[in-house]
Amino acid sequence: MPSDVLIAPSILAADFAQFGAETAAIDRAGADWVHVDVMDGHFVPNISFGADVVRAVRRFTDKPLDVHLMIAPVDPYLEAFAKAGADAISVHVEAGPHLHRSLQTVRALGKRTGAAINPATPIDALVHVIDDVDEILVMTVNPGFGGQAFIKSMLPKIAAIRRMLDGRPVDIVADGGVTAENARACVAAGANVLVAGSAVFGKGGLGVEAYRPRIDAIRTAGQAAYGVEV
Ligand code: DX5
Ligand code: ZN
Repeated sequence: MPSDVLIAPSILAADFAQFGAETAAIDRAGADWVHVDVMDGHFVPNISFGADVVRAVRRFTDKPLDVHLMIAPVDPYLEAFAKAGADAISVHVEAGPHLHRSLQTVRALGKRTGAAINPATPIDALVHVIDDVDEILVMTVNPGFGGQAFIKSMLPKIAAIRRMLDGRPVDIVADGGVTAENARACVAAGANVLVAGSAVFGKGGLGVEAYRPRIDAIRTAGQAAYGVEV
């Protein structure tokens, strides 16, 4: 069971006119990962950005770029995101019929593999890939937008996934609506990576001094679940 809570701000909530500066700001503000939400307007009802934004922000941080692909089909684009500088690539179990092959492809590209799962999708969809993933991304909102309310019924789902993993060193990422108020419950359930878009950026463009206390507050709240004060 991981013992440190990692905070992964999502640049979907950043100022789109200054992705580089925003990425550098959350890096300096203490982000552990940078979460990059890719949306195609087909798998989810919103369009965000593609591999070129990954390439652009890569220059502004050495922290892991955790790329969340909310796209279908996903296989044709995996190499582009890997070459653009992604460190981890999460694909949705719902994005197509060949999840295992997609994960094999990400692994062959030398990247960390992730399986992302929507709120209504049963965790059985993960059973046959738990030895092929480095992270499991649990959607705690319906994918497509930042700023949505956290779906509390996902907490027992996180706990069930942590039990399914049976001690495997797989990160569980809580993604969507995470705040300092629900971080402890997420970690207590079994998540060890907390994605936070609006809880860190607000409407974006605020800078390091605004982002640092917000990141610290979420991490401190999450760590409290371990009984460890940071
Ligand atoms: C939603 C994305 C989330 C979202 C997080 O489809 O996967 O990463 O941007 O933003 P907040 O923290 O504002 O819900
Ligand atoms: Zn995401």
